[in-house]
Amino acid sequence: MPSIILTSTLLLLLLLSLSLFLAFWKGNRRIVLRGEHVLITGGTSGIGLEFAKLCILHGAHVTVVGRTEIKLKQALKVLEAYARDSRGKEPVGYISDVAQPSSCEKLFTEAEKKHGPVSVLICCAGSCVPGYFEELEPSVFENQMHSNYYSAVYPAQAAFKRMKGRRKGHIVLTSSLGGLLGVFGYSAYSPSKFAVRGLAEVLYQECLPFGIGVSVICPPDTKTPGFDEENRYKPKETLLLSQGAGLFSAEQVAKEALNDILRRRFMISTGLQGKMLVNVCSGFGPQVSPIQLLVMPIMRGICYFVQRQQERIIKEEHKRR
Ligand SMILES: NC(=O)c1ccc[n+]([C@@H]2O[C@H](COP(=O)([O-])OP(=O)(O)OC[C@H]3O[C@@H](n4cnc5c(N)ncnc54)[C@H](OP(=O)(O)O)[C@@H]3O)[C@@H](O)[C@H]2O)c1
Repeated sequence: MPSIILTSTLLLLLLLSLSLFLAFWKGNRRIVLRGEHVLITGGTSGIGLEFAKLCILHGAHVTVVGRTEIKLKQALKVLEAYARDSRGKEPVGYISDVAQPSSCEKLFTEAEKKHGPVSVLICCAGSCVPGYFEELEPSVFENQMHSNYYSAVYPAQAAFKRMKGRRKGHIVLTSSLGGLLGVFGYSAYSPSKFAVRGLAEVLYQECLPFGIGVSVICPPDTKTPGFDEENRYKPKETLLLSQGAGLFSAEQVAKEALNDILRRRFMISTGLQGKMLVNVCSGFGPQVSPIQLLVMPIMRGICYFVQRQQERIIKEEHKRR
């Protein structure tokens, strides 16, 4: 018995020192945005627009990108006012479809001419088209890959090529909680976000020798224009399943995510459920925290009960229909 107590105490002390070491080590390597160029794809709306405001507050040169002129003009108006009030640097905007490789090259060349080398790339462009699997047109599956996966691949590649030479930079990709687990109604969306998470894990390793960091954010349901659009097509089951998880503001999601990005965290989410899911779905991911090691079996147990509850909801809704 005393040997069990001694071993547990030693293990606990070891974990505690490890967390203190990690906290200290990470604290020293915090990204500083002041004077740096941050390029945000999808920065004209929702979460991306909130990232843009925060980066201006941090003193960064911000470039936002979207495909629609009217959205870009409106976003720039908001951001310019924000920059004036906070004495931040004036933002710049570009129209570009970042799911096209040639557009991305042109975008980076022009943006870097204006604001200098991109130090932080935040890929936030994306969309969600939910629906019953058997009812979705083939074009929806293809468009979701373009909208979510290719819109991450090409800007990341353009940034990587440039950051590599400078041996400095950070690339942020946007997946989703729906990119960590399959959810009813997301047969076109979820796989495209799983792909983004896979890309982030590969990039983490390929960027390592060049001192370039990688983060992947997995937002929970967030109130944005994109979310309102998605809700128009959501099957009832999808709505019921997501009810318990809550709805976050784009401001909160961007604020918490940016804080973790600056601390070079790899997999990031918001809210208790989001953080739990990111931990429990981390698999072979590159970063492990002592807390994760301690609570993993408990979290996995909770997942079992959540799954059973979700199955009940799906079956009941099926009977009702
Ligand atoms: N809101 C949520 O609940 C939620 C949850 C999990 C993950 N996410 C992810 O978080 C990201 C932001 O979502 P949001 O809700 O803030 O969306 P949003 O309000 O619809 O904003 C999406 C932004 O991306 C731009 N965009 C889309 N495709 C593009 C492309 N190919 N090239 C350039 N710009 C493009 C849009 O502008 P244009 O339309 O003018 O191009 C817009 O600025 C997305 O990747 C989304 O999948 C959102």
